[in-house]
Amino acid sequence: MEFATKTIHAGQPSEPETGSLIAPIFQTSTYEQDAPGVNRGFDYSRTNNPTRARLEAVLAELEGVPHAAVYASGLAAENAILQAYLTPGDEIVIPLDVYGGTYRILNTVFRPLGCVIRQVDLARPGALESALSARTKLVWIESPTNPRLLVYDIAAISAAAHTAGALLVVDNTFATPLFQQPFRLGADIVVHSVTKYLAGHSDVIQGAVLARDAAVFEPIKFLQNATGAVPSPFDCWLTLRGLKTLELRMQRHADNADAVARALDGHPLVRRVYYPGLPQHPGHDVARRQMTGFGGMVSFELDGTVDEVVSFVSSRRFFALGESLGGVKALVCHPARMTHASIPAEERTKLGLSDTLVRLSPGCEHHRDLVADLLDGLTAIDQARSLNVTVAV
Ligand SMILES: Cc1ncc(COP(=O)(O)O)c(C=O)c1O
Repeated sequence: MEFATKTIHAGQPSEPETGSLIAPIFQTSTYEQDAPGVNRGFDYSRTNNPTRARLEAVLAELEGVPHAAVYASGLAAENAILQAYLTPGDEIVIPLDVYGGTYRILNTVFRPLGCVIRQVDLARPGALESALSARTKLVWIESPTNPRLLVYDIAAISAAAHTAGALLVVDNTFATPLFQQPFRLGADIVVHSVTKYLAGHSDVIQGAVLARDAAVFEPIKFLQNATGAVPSPFDCWLTLRGLKTLELRMQRHADNADAVARALDGHPLVRRVYYPGLPQHPGHDVARRQMTGFGGMVSFELDGTVDEVVSFVSSRRFFALGESLGGVKALVCHPARMTHASIPAEERTKLGLSDTLVRLSPGCEHHRDLVADLLDGLTAIDQARSLNVTVAV
């Protein structure tokens, strides 16, 4: 079955009782039992729910593995992996560029418990190998990363992690299973902020964990019920609906990102564009090798002041200023003050996260409107400079 067909048909037969083409939302907390302890596969909706089970089946198909569990948010999904695999004294290796919430949960929740977080520049040859030890349980990467769209060689990192006896976790949120299949590249666990492209309409908060190996999956799945961070049946249904257009949406997001990146690249007010589809992007060749598309995100550094960035991101016509990404409606974000504000300023500098970095999530609008909106914003900065006035926020 091809990818687009899976998003519509996998695990989603018409409802057997009525023929309802789209399965109903099983909005129930519990299930009538035939006899004490005898049920029809469902006993309580924290433990399992038919709408959730359908969603998990589709996600597993899309990533090409047998096991999936969904959680109330991407961070709840991350927490389940970390809680399952890190005990005091254990080590985890993460790259410099990592989602701010991942950095926060590791440093404020797991470090105080005695876990050791080694943050290294995975693009530097030998850096990963020297960070690994007999106590390394997990190597955790995003690729492409949030927010600089760095690309890591998943197969090479997986080989190094496995040599040290560690598991490789890949956050596949930015790429989606359409553009990147981490299990084929050696990942042991894949995590998603379903909130983003998978649900796709900026109306759901949800996460997912996937695994090929039952033994790897079991402790993570156990925590879904044991700690209870499960999504509602309605939210699962919304994601099932969103997934049906995943391929169509991703193609449009990717086309729009490409148009935006090319319009910004070389603009006099743009110091640098981060987009793996540009040939000068340091991860371009790896991206071509391990992805089937460059994704829908673009970041750029404004050659200007933080005030100018604030003005730019606050006054776009089609790019709403907001956290998150991956929805049909375009979003713009200032990571230093928003998604990555939880990383202290001096750490951000060390990590190469400029305060004039702007992150764009082009939606499914027409690319001409999106590009014009961005170029208008840059022209406004230019005009304000030549008039020597402060740009209005
Ligand atoms: C790459 C990445 N991973 C994980 C998360 C966390 O997901 P959620 O916001 O659904 O908890 C985010 C959120 O922005 C993200 O961008």
